Amino acid sequence: MKRIKPFDFSKWKPTPTPDEAKECLQSLENGQVLYFPNLNFQIKAQEQESFSSNLVKPGRKNISYDLSSDLTKACEANLETQNIIHEMMKRFANCALEFVQCTFPQYKKHLITGRTSFRPVEIKGRQNSSYKKNDTLLHIDSFPSTPTNGKRILRFFANVNPFDIPRVWRLGEPHKQVIKRFLPQIKSPIWGSRSLMNRFGITKSYRILYDHYMLHIHDKMKMDQSYQEKVNQEILEFPPMTCWMAFTDQVSHAVLSGQYAFEQSFYLPVEAQDSPEKSPLNYMEKLLQKSLME
Ligand code: SIN
Ligand code: FE
Repeated sequence: MKRIKPFDFSKWKPTPTPDEAKECLQSLENGQVLYFPNLNFQIKAQEQESFSSNLVKPGRKNISYDLSSDLTKACEANLETQNIIHEMMKRFANCALEFVQCTFPQYKKHLITGRTSFRPVEIKGRQNSSYKKNDTLLHIDSFPSTPTNGKRILRFFANVNPFDIPRVWRLGEPHKQVIKRFLPQIKSPIWGSRSLMNRFGITKSYRILYDHYMLHIHDKMKMDQSYQEKVNQEILEFPPMTCWMAFTDQVSHAVLSGQYAFEQSFYLPVEAQDSPEKSPLNYMEKLLQKSLME
């Protein structure tokens, strides 16, 4: 199976044929990256003029936007520029939402819209506070403070670099191999630790076993230098004016370089998948022979 699957959609409100919709669904759930070389998120001249890596608050990686509250966070600029960035992010969030809803009609009523991020900082040479935050290392997505409660993480990306610079990714091995390799190395959580983390606000909700194992797989992958070098992998370049998406909790990925990109997160209950058995949750439960929703 190829790691990437191109589709020639060029509109933000695509009307896929039933066959196309089925192909999108199967490719995504099989763990391929869906690539849209003809889908361009248009940046306005005024927006491009405000592009700078200094837009991000010191200590933060990205500017974030929340469609439901219509609030932008971590943008540092004068009021006029902040408004320009805010409007651009809102427009992207709406485009991404519409695109995903039209391309995956089966997911539409179950899909939860998460944060939008604008990433104006060059990845290459970017400082990270810890190896766990270093996204140039292969990983599957899992975040310490935001458990998914078993939901899938679906992410939609757009490269909007105005200087013809691609966003360069690495893609690793299929998720079953990742899980088989790292899951046996992970200990059960310490009794009571997850309730304490929840009570003290270290996690935004209770970290269920699934999130515990996913987070430790994420950390172990990034920590294992020889794995990073030796595992079967492929480098991919996403040119400017293209988009792509994947279940990033399933696809082993890393970003090597690039500047100016958007990302829109979505969450999807496993039951809403066409084939829930293809999820990391179901695979880990099968291997461990127990429910991980606790
Ligand atoms: C990541 O999800 O690890 C980063 C991807 C990117 O910013 O291109
Ligand atoms: Fe990631």
